Amino acid sequence: MWGGRFAGGPDEIMEAINASIGFDRRLAAQDIAGSRAHAAMLAAQGILTDKDAEAIREGLLTVLSEIQAGTFQFSTALEDIHMNVEARLIELIGDAGRRLHTGRSRNDQVATDFRLWVREQCDAAIEGIAALQKALIGQAETGADWVMPGFTHLQTAQPVTWGHHMLAYVEMFARDVSRFSDARARMNECPLGAAALAGTSFPIDRHATAKALGFDRPSANSLDAVSDRDFALDFLSAASICAMHLSRLAEELVIWSSAQFRFVAMSDRFSTGSSIMPQKKNPDAAELLRAKIGRIFGAQAALLMVMKGLPLAYSKDMQEDKEQVFDAADTLMLGLAAMTGMVSDMAANPEALRGAAGQGFSTATDLADWLVREAGLPFRDAHHVTGTLVAKAEAKGCDLPDLSLAEMQEVHGAITESVFDVLGVDNSVASRTSYGGTAPDNVRAQIATWKDRLG
Ligand code: ARG
Repeated sequence: MWGGRFAGGPDEIMEAINASIGFDRRLAAQDIAGSRAHAAMLAAQGILTDKDAEAIREGLLTVLSEIQAGTFQFSTALEDIHMNVEARLIELIGDAGRRLHTGRSRNDQVATDFRLWVREQCDAAIEGIAALQKALIGQAETGADWVMPGFTHLQTAQPVTWGHHMLAYVEMFARDVSRFSDARARMNECPLGAAALAGTSFPIDRHATAKALGFDRPSANSLDAVSDRDFALDFLSAASICAMHLSRLAEELVIWSSAQFRFVAMSDRFSTGSSIMPQKKNPDAAELLRAKIGRIFGAQAALLMVMKGLPLAYSKDMQEDKEQVFDAADTLMLGLAAMTGMVSDMAANPEALRGAAGQGFSTATDLADWLVREAGLPFRDAHHVTGTLVAKAEAKGCDLPDLSLAEMQEVHGAITESVFDVLGVDNSVASRTSYGGTAPDNVRAQIATWKDRLG
């Protein structure tokens, strides 16, 4: 493609380090869409004849079908997807194919192709997250009022409801959706026509190509257009935070499915056995998900590293932007699908949840609140009295509701029989009616709101 300037061909090692066709073939459909939009615009502007544009259009469709059918011969000597497609087009249609590259460069071409690809991934992520949210809402509905221990420091803190816990993740993933849609809106500017870096002297219509490719507008500065990879970084940032949420949930599933917790049983479809221990059922999908998301964080760090030292405009370093993003997107989509499957299939165990909810003096705060409300103690004093009662129960080896009224009154005379009403886990969760609190009525209202939102 640049033979004029060169007397000899590249060294084998040069070809190996230089070629990106091994991975950027994933951009084939986007590359062809970009070329079709470019050719149509060139014809509309009178830069190409309609006849040439038509030959290009048909030739590109042939190339696309060859690639889709797996019959296309990719060549490393042709470096990348752009030159592979163009060379085949020329082979198919001759001179008209040679005119396609008028008023553009591989620099704006790759920036456009990659943007189109990443934009699709934002849409796919949003769709994948919505499916996961629906699965979580299904779980929340099943156990809107099932009591379970809420933890801080992974120590029993206060009883909460299973539905509330599931909806906490629905909220997290909703923020991820908004991050992906923000990223999508921000990246939706078309670099095509920025050419190598300075724009072109041909009377091109960048607004037309932007529109044809579904962009909101052409990017305003040609130098920025070809040297910007923020869109990929935006995607990776959103993906990283989403992956972190997936990993936290995966971690909970690993803990909850253990014999010590028994909060959930994972389905056979998302578990494996052990080759030596016949009793084992391991939550491998959750563990792998927890580990795999590291690849996404790694991709973000890697791309920041590629970009941080680059002067304007394009540098070949930027060819190293793609593989990591491809891998991160694949990992995210697989992770979302695996989590959706696990959550849809898992069976929470209401008895185990309830049994654990009452352990660890989980209603101690309810007791302290009772002392404030019913006995008029300042909260700090109520906290101290309750602490003494907890120590007493602990010494006796029982839970708070197992202390007798007399034993309680030894600690504080104002305690009456009605204290026992607040020591039960059901009363505890039912009383948490403050906005955003864990009360089953709140949870049911939130489920209804989410079902409306998600359709
Ligand atoms: N394969 C290249 C990439 O992925 C395309 C752009 C090449 N541009 C250039 N001036 N060598 O970045």
